Parts: sequence; C-alpha cells; structure tokens
Amino acid sequence: MIDEASSFVRAVTRALRTVPLDPKGPPAPPGDRFLGHAGVLRDDPIGHFTRWCAEYGDAVTLRVPGEHMVLALHPDAVKHVLQSNAKNYTKQTRGFDKMRLFLGNGLVTSEGDFWKRQRRIAAPAFHRNRIEGFADTMIGATADMLARWATLPADAPATDVARELTTLTMRIASVTLLGKDLSGAADAVGDALQFLTLSTNDRITALFDIPLTVPTPENRRYLQAVKVVDDLLLPLIAERQRTPGAHHDLLAMLLEARDEETGEGMTPQQLRDEAITIFAAGHETTSNALAWTFYLLGRHRDVATRLYDEVDRALGDRAPTLADLPAMPFTKCVIQESMRLYPPAWIIGRRALADDELCGYRVAAGTQVLLSPFATHRHPKFWEDPEAFDPDRFSPERAAGRAAYAYLPFGGGPRVCIGNAFAMMEAQLILAQVSQRFRLELAPGARVEPVRGITLSPGPALPMHMRARGPRGPQPVG
Ligand code: HEM
Repeated sequence: MIDEASSFVRAVTRALRTVPLDPKGPPAPPGDRFLGHAGVLRDDPIGHFTRWCAEYGDAVTLRVPGEHMVLALHPDAVKHVLQSNAKNYTKQTRGFDKMRLFLGNGLVTSEGDFWKRQRRIAAPAFHRNRIEGFADTMIGATADMLARWATLPADAPATDVARELTTLTMRIASVTLLGKDLSGAADAVGDALQFLTLSTNDRITALFDIPLTVPTPENRRYLQAVKVVDDLLLPLIAERQRTPGAHHDLLAMLLEARDEETGEGMTPQQLRDEAITIFAAGHETTSNALAWTFYLLGRHRDVATRLYDEVDRALGDRAPTLADLPAMPFTKCVIQESMRLYPPAWIIGRRALADDELCGYRVAAGTQVLLSPFATHRHPKFWEDPEAFDPDRFSPERAAGRAAYAYLPFGGGPRVCIGNAFAMMEAQLILAQVSQRFRLELAPGARVEPVRGITLSPGPALPMHMRARGPRGPQPVG
C-alpha cells in the first residue's frame, strides 16, 4: 500500500512535467498544443492508431504529459519488442501496476526469474494433451445454454448475446480451473470478480486514481471484493493441499506441478495469484472473441452460410467432439479473422529498460512502448482491403509468407498467451455448436461499437435474435 501511495505521488509529479520530443525518435503526429495526444488516448485511441498506421507505417511518438511514449506499428517493430529484444521490455507500466492490485504476482504481471520459473511450472498444465480433457466441459456448458435458448418464443425480445457468452465462458473457466461453477447471477465470487475487472479498468483509464489505502466507498468495495475471492480460493487451496485426490481441473494440475530443475511446487499464495490470473485472463478474452464473431456473422450472411455448410457436413445432427475440429477448418478461419478485426487484447504495453532502436528510430530508456494489435492487424502493407471481413485470409495458401507479427491476437515471444490452445479449442467448439442450431441476427437498429476495457468488447450490448436453423429447428443436444 505504501508503494501504491508513493507511486501515486510519482504519477502526479510526472504528469505535471512536459517531456521534450526526441529528435531521433519516431515522428509525432499533430496533437493538442498543451495536452499532446492525451485526449486521443482517452477518447479514440483505436481510430487514431489505425489512421497513423496507414499514414506513418512504422512507429509514432505520442506526446503525453509526463511520459515518453512510442506506438510501434510495423510487424518488425512489434517482433523486436515482443521477441527479438524482449529482455529490454518490462511490464512496469501503469496498466500492469493496476492489474497487480488484484492479480498479485501471477503469470500476466510477474517478471524476471520469478516469472520464468512460474511459466516453466505452469506450462505442462496448458499442454494440448492436458487441456483436451476440458472439451467435454465446454461442450456440456454450451449445450445447456442452447437448451435454454431453444425455449425462447419466436417473438422474444432480442437477447444480449455478449452477456450470454460471458456467463458461458465464466462457467467454463471456473469449472475447468476450480471444478466449481461461479457463473450463477447470485454467485458472490462471480460478482466480485466481475467488479474487480471493471474497477481495474477504470483505474487504468482514470487520469488519477485514489490509492487503495484511502477508504473511499469504491476502494472499500474493491478490497471487499478481493476478500470474497480470497475467502474462496485460499481455503480451497489449503484443502486440496491436505487431501490431494480425484480432481482433474487446472488447479489440480498447478498443485501437482513441480519445477523440473528444483523439484519445488508453488506456495499457497502463488497458487492463489496464478488461479485468479488464469481466470481473469481466460474468460473475458474468449467471450469477447466469440461475441465479435457472432456480430460479424450477423452482418455477413454469405460467410455465415459457408460456416453452416461446413458445420452441417462435419456434424450433421450430433453434438461435436474434439475429434471433429480438424474437419471444420473454416470455423477456425472465421474466429481468426474476427480476432484480426477485433482483437480482444487490443493494446499491449511495455517499458524500455535501455536505449534501443525500432525501425531505425531511437527509443530512449524509460520510454513506454505501446503495441496496437487492432492497428497492426489493419496495416495496409500487410493486409489487402483491411476493413473487409474475409476469413479466407487465414487459409494455408493465403497465410503463407505473411509477416509473423502482422497478426498477434495472443501476443508473441516468451510472454505469448499460455492459454491460446485452450482459447482456440473453446471458441471453435462453441462456434460450431451454436451455428449447428441457431442463426444469430443482429436486432434491427442495434448500434454496436468497440468498447475499450482491459479487453475490447462489442457494446454497449450485443442484442441479437436467435433463429432456429433450417427445417430441423432446434434439436436435442448431447
Ligand atoms: C481469445 C482468447 C484470448 C486472447 C485474445 C488472449 C490474449 C493474450 C495476450 C495478447 C497475452 C500477452 C499479453 C502481453 O504480452 O502483455 C496473453 C497472455 C496470457 N494469457 Fe491469454 N488470451 C486469451 C485466452 C486465454 C486463456 C483461455 C487463458 C487461460 C486459460 C489465458 C491465460 C493467459 C496468461 C496466463 C497469460 C500470461 C502469459 C505470460 O506472460 O507468461 N489466456 N493472452
């Protein structure tokens, strides 16, 4: 808490300083005379980043009071930051500082040797062979959601599909992680986690936020929410450590995990931080990827029709299994293309430790470097007709030879998303299962815009009508 208060004082002092531009740094687009690009960052970063990507191509300097800031746009610059010179780029940024308040020192927020060890210990739990065991949970939870949709009358008002998907992915995340369903509306832990995510986002985007040591109503609610989560997790971890046994969830895998080099396992605090990190990192990202996919399919009937043909050919009337995924390559392309246009992780931040160079421009030590998957995924040098929704871009023929870091929905380099195989398996199974039964139609007049939180969601809601597909209508699932 003392650290947090002093970093607050440092932030205020820094914000009052004007930072001179580096003549050897990337060009700075025009901005406000006094506030530079601070207004852009608050009001419309993705629109401006995308325009600057088309106009400047490599990297730009952002003028923000109190910060040296560079936005790296070219895939080579992205690769340099995330992979080739990753050791020069830390997660000591405001965004990660705020996440640390409730995630603690888990895989997303930790650094250095500690992170390396945790990643080494956790990696086997995310190996394809281990996570395949979770497919049945994903399929069963989706079948329950579809059975509920099937009871809706044909003239029912539009449903907020984004909300439905959040509940679904929260259920899948909590069952696969802890063996418990926390998605129920009445579930205090689910509520607490949702509040912590929203509040953390507010703290990141606010010009200043009040340190947690000050007992404002918001801060008290925040600390209470952390307590609700810890009161569930810590006794659960203690009990599992006392009586290890017949559990097949991610927590069991983390409890069993041992460092290959030292033979050590994780402490209860580390297990708590990793569990809450995996939950937070895993469910909102996947639900947003799916929500955007249904939005895009609702707007592109031709693509939806091809998807239905593939799913019908591969599955007929039966529920999917994991073994069906290879027979549905277009389903995967649809998700990949949806994450190109609307990457849930729309911004990635780092801070340079030492002076460096990006695309020939100097980046001074201490500079905050932002990566914008949203803008780089629309880089006109790498993507033809970048605004078009065209899943065939991800067919093997068209993807061959594309610069690796032109597409980075899961980040890259040593800090690449550890859950990416889990997320792709979940998204493909859910998309196939929903598409088999329903065509989702955007409610007439619905205005859907990207809403920037920690992840990018369609908002303010995603009202859609679920139409039973084809002459068969909704079929019993399972
Ligand atoms: C569509 C879904 C997902 C997207 C778009 C996504 C995206 C990302 C991105 C971009 C990063 C890198 C962040 C950075 O470099 O600063 C990341 C890291 C991470 N993700 Fe995901 N993620 C998804 C699903 C998941 C799932 C399902 C899990 C767990 C079950 C997960 C767990 C993590 C963890 C633990 C990290 C930190 C890895 C490390 O630094 O070692 N993610 N994710």
